[in-house]
Amino acid sequence: MSSEAIAREVARRRTFAIISHPDAGKSTMTEALALHARVIGEAGAIHGKAGRKSTVSDWMEMEKARGISVSSTALQFTYGDAVINLVDTPGHADFSEDTYRVLTAVDAAVMLIDAAKGLEPQTLKLFQVCRHRGIPVITVINKWDRPGRTPLELIDEISERIGLLPTPLYFPVGIAGDFRGLLDRRTGDYVRFTRTAGGATIAPEELMTADAAAARENGEWTAAVEESDLLSEMGQDHDEELFLAGETSPMIFASAMLNFGVRQLLDALVELAPPPAARDSVDDATRDVTDPFSAVVFKVQAGMDSSHRDRLAFMRIVSGEFERGMVVTHAQTGKPFATKYAQAVFGRDRSTVDTAYPGDVVGLVNAMTLAPGDTLYTDDEVRYPPIPSFAPEHFAVLRAVSAGKYKQFRKGMDQLASEGVVQVLRNDLRGDASPVLAAVGPMQFEVVTARMKTEFGVDTAVDFLGFTLARRTDAASADELNRQRGVEVFTRSDGVLLALVSDKWRLQYIQKEHPELTLEPLVAAAD
Ligand code: G4P
Repeated sequence: MSSEAIAREVARRRTFAIISHPDAGKSTMTEALALHARVIGEAGAIHGKAGRKSTVSDWMEMEKARGISVSSTALQFTYGDAVINLVDTPGHADFSEDTYRVLTAVDAAVMLIDAAKGLEPQTLKLFQVCRHRGIPVITVINKWDRPGRTPLELIDEISERIGLLPTPLYFPVGIAGDFRGLLDRRTGDYVRFTRTAGGATIAPEELMTADAAAARENGEWTAAVEESDLLSEMGQDHDEELFLAGETSPMIFASAMLNFGVRQLLDALVELAPPPAARDSVDDATRDVTDPFSAVVFKVQAGMDSSHRDRLAFMRIVSGEFERGMVVTHAQTGKPFATKYAQAVFGRDRSTVDTAYPGDVVGLVNAMTLAPGDTLYTDDEVRYPPIPSFAPEHFAVLRAVSAGKYKQFRKGMDQLASEGVVQVLRNDLRGDASPVLAAVGPMQFEVVTARMKTEFGVDTAVDFLGFTLARRTDAASADELNRQRGVEVFTRSDGVLLALVSDKWRLQYIQKEHPELTLEPLVAAAD
């Protein structure tokens, strides 16, 4: 394919993730987006709200039959001329480093907020990762069909707490709980919505002029116009440059359940979110999107079935055209990797991918040697910077319960550390038999014990440790730190020295008493 043709494919693509706190409506919004793009006939087909349990168990049966385990990863659909890739962030139960790694594969994020709850902890954490990576954020206030806060309260909360200035593209007409439609702040027109039964189909929209809207909605319309004008006076109108710089966030009020505001979100993604762009390699060379094929592995999913050690690696394409069957080079080992089995995976659907372009996500089957952060390429050699490891908040000792399985224990530990399932810490004091695991979310420990048993045949137990934070330190500080109460120094498998500290008060105390010691914060997603 010519580079012009690849450039055209790239220009059509938008790759994004939804970041939200559990229950804000991410699944419902995903269904609504897909419904709008008409990949499914009726909302509910992807996650099967009503029959969620049976959907899940059917899927597990299917996974068993195929002997592979699959997690939702990327939904691709066309919307008009655009190709949209919605990369899934794992939900509450799986909250772990995986969630953060997914954000290294997207070009934009949609921050989904519950109108009644405002900013919630998980949204905040994920937002910080977006900020560090310079990912532009579109904000959606969801559940506007239910009682909630006022628009200006929500806008203030976001700008004051996280320093991101919302610039609503649309302003809601009707308070939360009485969602009538949206004032299009860029045209001054009114988009009036009509409810459909159960929100199962696209909500009909009626476009009205300001005068017609005023006659129709009376005080509700006037109130929306006044508040919108107030925002304009304060400079809160969309500015593409500031949005791409991560300073402002276009905002939309929506009801994923009723399918209100969903088209507006899709349009905003297509019009405002950036297409895939060139990336810098470790040696600071730039690989343009039309250069030969290259991709970064951002997630590895191993089979939970003990009889099949299948491993699926998900790559995001950075440059060039991907064709199934092509042989690429694995930059970390220099070895060839055949891509005969390439799949798109979302929910219960898997389909074979024959061609893909920058911004697309492809799952590679039997990817035993690939780890998160690895680069694949053809032609000119390239290696992209590794995915940063994230600040762990949970720490536990892992020990083998089954006696005499030391070799398998060690092998399993090395394997899981290399896959990035968990961070593994060691020091001389504790020895090798009971390493300390460090995780972003406690679920990661459960994955470790399950996989140690099924894949390596070792029963393990986890003993939680009383540390809550980790700081990067150096050899010169290690001895003094080890003498402090509530502190222990470890070497992580990538060689970084980490000081684990019991709590932030202890940390503050040590920093005050020993300002000479190195205790650098591990920023969630610093490059
Ligand atoms: P999540 O993936 O972010 O965890 O959220 P999910 O979509 O599962 O939605 C969480 C709950 O919020 C669901 O209710 C869902 O129906 C509801 N919800 C999502 N979007 C909207 C919205 O725009 N308006 C209203 N009113 N509710 C919304 P549930 O009680 O858990 O399930 P269900 O009984 O409604 O199916």
